[in-house]
Amino acid sequence: MGTDSNGNREERADRGWSADAYDDDHSFVYEYGEGVVDLLDPAEGERILDIGCGTGHLTEAIAERGADAVGLDASAEMIERARESYPDRRFVRADARSFASEFDEPFDAAFSNAALHWIPEPDHDATLSSVHDALRPGGRFVAELGGAGNVEPFADAIRSACAERGYDVESPWYFPSVGEYAPRLESAGFEVRYATLFDRPTALDDGEAGLRNWIGMFATEFLEPVSETERDEILDEVEGMLRGRYFRDGEWVAPYRRLRFVAVRERR
Ligand code: BEZ
Repeated sequence: MGTDSNGNREERADRGWSADAYDDDHSFVYEYGEGVVDLLDPAEGERILDIGCGTGHLTEAIAERGADAVGLDASAEMIERARESYPDRRFVRADARSFASEFDEPFDAAFSNAALHWIPEPDHDATLSSVHDALRPGGRFVAELGGAGNVEPFADAIRSACAERGYDVESPWYFPSVGEYAPRLESAGFEVRYATLFDRPTALDDGEAGLRNWIGMFATEFLEPVSETERDEILDEVEGMLRGRYFRDGEWVAPYRRLRFVAVRERR
């Protein structure tokens, strides 16, 4: 772990995402995000910042509704792919915790789908403060992230298979509850207009290989200290533990839980 010029921790800011795997094997991430774009309800001509834009599909979806959309992501590979796919849009590589200096003009709205849970828990106040400063007074922040209990049975199974082999691994994610996140939004100068936590069981792509591929894309941090041989054993064991409950009709269904909110920057 290092620090950047602003003193922020760089851990997990760019976790080496594969843009190919994200687009080809995990397209449900941005497909479900269309619902969050509906909640954002972009208006013609609004300046909107998409935080954690990945390969830019939702930035484009926001722009298609007439807004002036800008994507921001910490991953060089994601930003490169977004620029290739949507050359007419602006994409900025920056850290969500400290991006204020990147933009001269305030935004009317900020948006984020399935990205905030990658920011370590202690850094959320800095992130919310960055978002607040990037918005005009009265501007809205509309977001969805994994919420309390998200994929918990999956994380528990991985942790338990690792623990049996002597590895004490930590979750790379932060999945807050409404009760935990709304006060953080308020402390950062937002009025919370809407917040909800709901279950959204999510079918993974790739049939039988779905769980392994999901772990290979989203949960690699758990397995970093584990040797190659043990990794395969652990994956076999995790599949065995979860199959009865989460493998149905030829596909893995992950127990996703979402936290969604609409918060408005106070007019001060
Ligand atoms: C999600 O909730 O979008 C998510 C969280 C952790 C890993 C993968 C996906």
